Amino acid sequence: MKSFIIVSLVAVVLVLVVLGSGAYNMAATEKHWAVTEKLITWIRENSIKVRAEELEVPALDEESMLGRGFVHYEAMCVECHLAPGKQPTELAQGLYPKAPVFHEREPVTDAEDKLFLSKKYFWVIKHGIKMTAMPAWGVTHGDESIWRITAFIHELHGMTPERYAELVDMHSSQHQYGIHDH
Ligand code: HEC
Repeated sequence: MKSFIIVSLVAVVLVLVVLGSGAYNMAATEKHWAVTEKLITWIRENSIKVRAEELEVPALDEESMLGRGFVHYEAMCVECHLAPGKQPTELAQGLYPKAPVFHEREPVTDAEDKLFLSKKYFWVIKHGIKMTAMPAWGVTHGDESIWRITAFIHELHGMTPERYAELVDMHSSQHQYGIHDH
């Protein structure tokens, strides 16, 4: 038992010496090992699940919800999450981890899956994700706005460039001129 403790302490000290020497590369261009990536994903998904599960989801499919959600998305999310028919931005290309591209995801039809995804999206939009570029929009926006954005992200799954361009025509000046709610 005693030698096990000594070996463990030596191991910890060695790890600290290596990390303190600057050997670990923090560059965003230096990818994680596959095992580290898996571990981070596992920790993140479980952390969000535990916190999101208890949320109550309001009705998300009303037209007004989607329109207002779009206005926020276009103003605050496109730089990183992109939009159908638009070129990848320079900002998005430099991110690590990359921001998911929602319009490349399949629409979710299963009611249970959709409900859980709504909770997950809402939670992430409100609280952000540590050590990534994903901001906590809950610092500046109320729950109602965040549910609208959540509704729009569902709508974005599988969206065509034509439909997105239509929405831009219908709504795009609203955020810019302050016609949006917090
Ligand atoms: C500066 C870049 C940036 C901006 C702006 C940004 N995000 Fe993100 N977002 C990210 C990154 C990076 C991730 C992935 C984090 C990770 O892999 O852990 C992410 C993850 C997410 C996720 C989790 C998706 C999933 O399935 O795991 C949601 C939902 C999300 N963002 C929504 C939004 C919305 C809505 C907005 C605008 C209101 C927004 N983001 C603005 C960078 C950004």
